Amino acid sequence: MTEPAVPVARRLLGTVCVVTGAARGIGLAIAERFAAEGGRIACLDVGAARLDTAVQRLRESGAEVRGYTADVGRRESVAAAFEAVERDFGAPVGVLVNNAVWARFQPLADVDEESVGRMFDVGLKGLIWTTQAVAPQMKRRGGGAIVNLSSTSALQALTHSIAYAAMKAGVLGLTRASAVELSPHGIRVNAIVPGMVGTPASVAQFDEATVAARLSAMPLGRFGEPGEIASVAAFLASDDSRYVQGAEIVADGGWTIATR
Ligand SMILES: NC(=O)c1ccc[n+]([C@@H]2O[C@H](COP(=O)([O-])OP(=O)(O)OC[C@H]3O[C@@H](n4cnc5c(N)ncnc54)[C@H](O)[C@@H]3O)[C@@H](O)[C@H]2O)c1
Repeated sequence: MTEPAVPVARRLLGTVCVVTGAARGIGLAIAERFAAEGGRIACLDVGAARLDTAVQRLRESGAEVRGYTADVGRRESVAAAFEAVERDFGAPVGVLVNNAVWARFQPLADVDEESVGRMFDVGLKGLIWTTQAVAPQMKRRGGGAIVNLSSTSALQALTHSIAYAAMKAGVLGLTRASAVELSPHGIRVNAIVPGMVGTPASVAQFDEATVAARLSAMPLGRFGEPGEIASVAAFLASDDSRYVQGAEIVADGGWTIATR
């Protein structure tokens, strides 16, 4: 876990928080941070074994944490999971983080229907299903906060990322449209736009030369850490950001301002 840069407040005290894709990487760091902020954490992931390990680890901090195996790409799986969360915690969900992803980076000629379908099912349509499932619960509790994970791929062109870029640009459009539609109910919807974050999934897929080239293009001179995205998520999930609506916060060490 990344040590927080400043002492952690208890901004999510008692709030039921759902984090999708929480079994590893950025999602796990967000669940960890939200637990430290006093949240009651529902970790949702498709990988049951990894999820169990993550939930055990999170419980060691003394936080209230439950795991839910669900596929965010399937509407009925999402609906069932959100019903179970409200039933188990005895309270409606106040915070949702749409973090789960399934990604393939392919040259245009190799892009296949199955990969694009899965990518969009999980990383784009999945956000519609989770938002649809959580909105009635947030309305009943008088408001809530939704945080969507986009990517700098939505803002800058990288090779072999046509489908990924389309998906992550879609997340930004979906964020703005949901923010407008849900504003009357006190529900805020914002996006985080991370650059390169050192998770097992991100760094492993690039060769040494690509990693070196990207590092040299980072004004801050390093990749981000999952905990540095988690602290932005905690801000957007809490009332500290209560006037922030439909926004995107870029957390990329200056990568895009230097290359655009
Ligand atoms: N790591 C980076 O450098 C980076 C950069 C920009 C944006 N992001 C975004 O941040 C988020 C997290 O990235 P990461 O690197 O931690 O990813 P990751 O691949 O390490 O973790 C993704 C998690 O989502 C889960 N998942 C996959 N399909 C699912 C499904 N159908 N239903 C539920 N869960 C599912 C996986 O089991 C896994 O635990 C993603 O949205 C990603 O696009 C990451």
